[in-house]
Amino acid sequence: MSTAGASSTSICNSAFSGPSIARLSPCAKLNLTLDVLGVRPDGFHELDSLVVGVDLCDTLTCKRLADPVVRFTCDDSTIDAKDNLCTRAAELFIKASGAPIGFAIKLIKRIPIGGGMGGGSCNAAGTLLLCNVLSKCPLSNETLHELGTALGSDVALFFHLPSALMRGRGEFVTPVSLAWSGFAVLAVAKAEVSTPKAYKAFDAMMSNRVSATPSGLSEKAILAPTARELADCCGNQLEKPVFSICPEVARVYKQLKNLNVGSVRVSGAGSVMYLLSDTEDEARCIARLIQETRIGVSVHVARVPVCPKPVEFEE
Ligand code: C5P
Repeated sequence: MSTAGASSTSICNSAFSGPSIARLSPCAKLNLTLDVLGVRPDGFHELDSLVVGVDLCDTLTCKRLADPVVRFTCDDSTIDAKDNLCTRAAELFIKASGAPIGFAIKLIKRIPIGGGMGGGSCNAAGTLLLCNVLSKCPLSNETLHELGTALGSDVALFFHLPSALMRGRGEFVTPVSLAWSGFAVLAVAKAEVSTPKAYKAFDAMMSNRVSATPSGLSEKAILAPTARELADCCGNQLEKPVFSICPEVARVYKQLKNLNVGSVRVSGAGSVMYLLSDTEDEARCIARLIQETRIGVSVHVARVPVCPKPVEFEE
């Protein structure tokens, strides 16, 4: 098995050598900060968000086909097999590249759906990347970024992990180097939050109080050296709107806070909540406590910040 790098600076950095199958483990994201800076004329919201990759990954395998068709299978039957972000990404790639080929995509899901961890978006970014490497890389990193943005607001950021600042509606992404690295305890509430509904709730709650100036938390968070100092800089302006439309997330958040084991934050538009820890031992201890308290969540401990491992090829 050979490998090719999948880092931000080198989306496609190995010479294509003819393999027909490529595999990648797209990782999820957490929003450490999320400022919503108002509604744009196109209806999307202007954002300022510091995002990190989390070591909670799906597995995406792509096989090159001789015919220009896209096939998709997934172990999660709740994902529509005909219309999902992977099939849309592969179709867009074929259209943009003009490559006279198709792809069979197989997805194994581990990232929670509707959890604010970019599960669908990282699959879309991963699909674009795999289609490109299986087609002798006809598209530049810039074009892949543009296609990603066309597929969804937070697709392109997955080309720029392990940590990045996301601005605009998500299309302006700047990789950054975080002072801190450690572990996140992820608490997955049994709820799927609709992102458009969360933004609508934000508009209803905030109408005249939106600040077009970022809070400055992102810059502070980049420099924070410990989990505690970083947690002090974390903030998410979608949290309250999410609580208002999803009582289950509000209930879990309150219970997690009552455990007094650290600062609890919601990622993106929820429903996943996280606590940060400097060491794996401490993170596992917090995870055990959450499990024993029977709050009604599934719990994971994951390293942050991370980026996906290199693409693996099969003949
Ligand atoms: O771009 P994406 O399909 O991920 O966005 C889903 C929905 O989230 C949009 O239709 C919009 O309602 C909302 N959204 C927004 N502003 C953003 C990103 C998403 O209003 N920057």
